Amino acid sequence: MMALSPVSSDSQAEQRQKRVLVAGATGYIGKFVTRELVARGYDVVSFARRRSGVNASTTEDETLRALHGSEVRFGDVSDMASLLRDGIRGERFDVGVSCLTSRNGGIRDSWNIDYQATRNVLDAGIAAGITQFVLLSAICVQKPMLEFQRAKLRFEKELMESGVSWSIVRPTAFFKSISGQVESVKKGKPYLMFGDGRLTACKPISEADLARFIADCIEDPSRKNRILPIGGPGKAVTNFDQAMMLFELLGRKPKLKKVPIQIFDVIIPVLTLLSGLFPKLIDKAEFARIGKYYCSESMLVWDPVKGCYDADATPSYGTETLRDFYSRVLDEGLAGQELGAQSMF
Ligand SMILES: NC(=O)c1ccc[n+]([C@@H]2O[C@H](COP(=O)([O-])OP(=O)(O)OC[C@H]3O[C@@H](n4cnc5c(N)ncnc54)[C@H](OP(=O)(O)O)[C@@H]3O)[C@@H](O)[C@H]2O)c1
Repeated sequence: MMALSPVSSDSQAEQRQKRVLVAGATGYIGKFVTRELVARGYDVVSFARRRSGVNASTTEDETLRALHGSEVRFGDVSDMASLLRDGIRGERFDVGVSCLTSRNGGIRDSWNIDYQATRNVLDAGIAAGITQFVLLSAICVQKPMLEFQRAKLRFEKELMESGVSWSIVRPTAFFKSISGQVESVKKGKPYLMFGDGRLTACKPISEADLARFIADCIEDPSRKNRILPIGGPGKAVTNFDQAMMLFELLGRKPKLKKVPIQIFDVIIPVLTLLSGLFPKLIDKAEFARIGKYYCSESMLVWDPVKGCYDADATPSYGTETLRDFYSRVLDEGLAGQELGAQSMF
């Protein structure tokens, strides 16, 4: 586990003065980042939509409660005029943090949010005086094959060239992304996995651990102007390992169902062909490509020399393990782990 740099009482006093603008504050990670920054004494303004959350199910009052301690300002991050008028309000800020991402990974939405809206936050932030920007990105951009990865990479490049100090945090998998089968397995259904379940691996990280890592970027000089791949504690886990963990915690004999990954080699060309005739299918074809990507590429640091993923080169951070998480959600349920349009199983 990486050690946190000690923060002196002088710099604690200084950091209380810092004003931080958080975009994407209503997201799975953004909520934890906002709360972590508030808990550390920053003056936090979070910018949100009036209806937010998975399937726009969260009301303004619920958002105000969820982001308590920050000053919540409502508006539209896709519209520069709204961002300046409703978010910045002519005030000065020190740091911009973006946890924005498309809710569905569709092609146009990814360019609108992962690139353009995030760019708006940087530009509005610079106009308001920020000297630092922390971006929540994703480890998968190291091997880009998908449109949302290209949109993220374009913003990453522009951020690095922007003149402000930057930290680009590229986490591996979140707990929510590998908990899609918890409920069905609990109900007695088999665990579905592609191939032998060992095609890919990741080092999952919890929302709270990742939020601490992101918040540390503001004060820790070693995290400035760096691309920071980051995973959770412990060894990398495959789908097979996740299945074994779940059945062991349930005290049941493993029940596994193997799905051939070649299924994507049928679905993707068919949807791509049909999308030429029916534009509504363009995003469906992209979702199938996203599905294949996650079933065939590990969420670990890629070693370009050896041409393989390297679990040992993927830094670990934090204390919450996947086993603790599975144990908790098997008892208490999956509230807060909803995937919305991102779910596959
Ligand atoms: N899932 C994984 O395992 C994983 C792993 C590594 C990295 N990542 C990366 O981590 C980042 C954050 O992921 P997350 O799961 O926390 O995201 P999330 O829960 O989907 O949250 C997305 C945020 O962006 C906002 N947003 C989306 N569309 C918007 C729009 N049209 N207008 C205004 N705001 C909009 C959402 O606001 P609303 O609440 O209003 O919708 C929300 O605050 C992403 O860059 C993702 O690629 C994910």
